[in-house]
Amino acid sequence: MKAIQIHQFMVLPSSLQDDGKVDALLSFNNDVPKPTFLKQNQMLVRVLACSLSPGDVLGAQGNMIFMHQPFPFIPGMDICGEIVDSNSSSNFKNNDVVVASNGLHPIGGMAEFMVIDEGEAVILPQGVSKEQGAASSSAVTAHNAVMDYVKEGDRVLILGGSGGVGSAAIQIAKTHAKASFVVATSTQIDMCEELGADQVINYNDVDWWMVEKYQQKKFDVIIDTVGGGNYYGRAEKVLKTGQQGGTFVAVAGDDPQPDCRTVWKVMKFFSNMLVNVIYTKVNTRTLPNYVPLWPYNLAKGRKTVLGWMGEGSLTINLDSDPLPFTVAGIREAFIKVSSHHAHGKVVVKVAE
Ligand SMILES: NC(=O)c1ccc[n+]([C@@H]2O[C@H](COP(=O)([O-])OP(=O)(O)OC[C@H]3O[C@@H](n4cnc5c(N)ncnc54)[C@H](OP(=O)(O)O)[C@@H]3O)[C@@H](O)[C@H]2O)c1
Repeated sequence: MKAIQIHQFMVLPSSLQDDGKVDALLSFNNDVPKPTFLKQNQMLVRVLACSLSPGDVLGAQGNMIFMHQPFPFIPGMDICGEIVDSNSSSNFKNNDVVVASNGLHPIGGMAEFMVIDEGEAVILPQGVSKEQGAASSSAVTAHNAVMDYVKEGDRVLILGGSGGVGSAAIQIAKTHAKASFVVATSTQIDMCEELGADQVINYNDVDWWMVEKYQQKKFDVIIDTVGGGNYYGRAEKVLKTGQQGGTFVAVAGDDPQPDCRTVWKVMKFFSNMLVNVIYTKVNTRTLPNYVPLWPYNLAKGRKTVLGWMGEGSLTINLDSDPLPFTVAGIREAFIKVSSHHAHGKVVVKVAE
């Protein structure tokens, strides 16, 4: 089958102008063995579209030891595809078009065929394009970050309103969690306003934690999809304390580019986060709650999010037209996502 393969961990550039050393490490092959063996509850799909996220970049860079795969591996984990072998499933049949993800394993999607777990698959609703379906994965994260922490009437600040997670979080906070006031930080003012933000702060011009009106009337929830920048520390100025219900949801984490290449580094990364959680739990009178967001209930969230997309109450913004299923297309997709300046989701059209 046709597939893109990665032959070494990539050194990805942080700007679109510099293409790093990506090409040499990627290849398009026509003769990659098609998966033949399906375990119980697995299905084979013909991939139609595959989206890339920062998690795929971490996998391709080799930054996360628990995501390491033997070389060569096929990148991409979030797909929309047509079932070609439903493996006697009682929930799906051949020719159903489904959205699925490989969970925490950023592999398999940039290929003609992929094996998926039946429990991860959700039927693509009528009227939703296959590219939007493949790109719905970040909205699942946004769903968990918003629906589990934002209550009706809350004042919410979303750091990074134009990214994959942030652009969905604005809409979900406004429409589904019924927040009363949603502010986003972004350079994409019009885009965030169209998605439903009541105010948008261009972070190049204004430090959100210094805005006097927010210091006077504080937020109930801050959802951080950017990371770094000591944002939890800064948030205190404009976010209620834990006792008052103030919550900082760390989607991106303190370091959005963590180096977790060894078990020791992984332990250090997680123990720093745990210390933060415990420290803020015992200081709720003076500090906001700190909640690191882990991936959980993804299949359930995917079902809800695709339902919203089908009924038209959630739109997935694509950064550009879908990119082609070629080395050049995948190279552009990786560079775009690793630049941290995609506006919406980056998708590759794998097949008609
Ligand atoms: N915890 C989880 O389960 C989970 C799941 C998915 C993703 N994540 C993490 O969440 C983060 C966001 O993911 P994503 O898919 O939304 O990323 P993304 O689409 O790559 O985000 C790019 C966006 O970030 C904006 N941005 C960059 N710097 C900014 C800043 N200083 N202030 C405000 N906006 C800024 C950019 O807007 P401009 O061009 O305007 O700068 C761009 O639109 C990543 O770190 C990812 O690893 C976590």
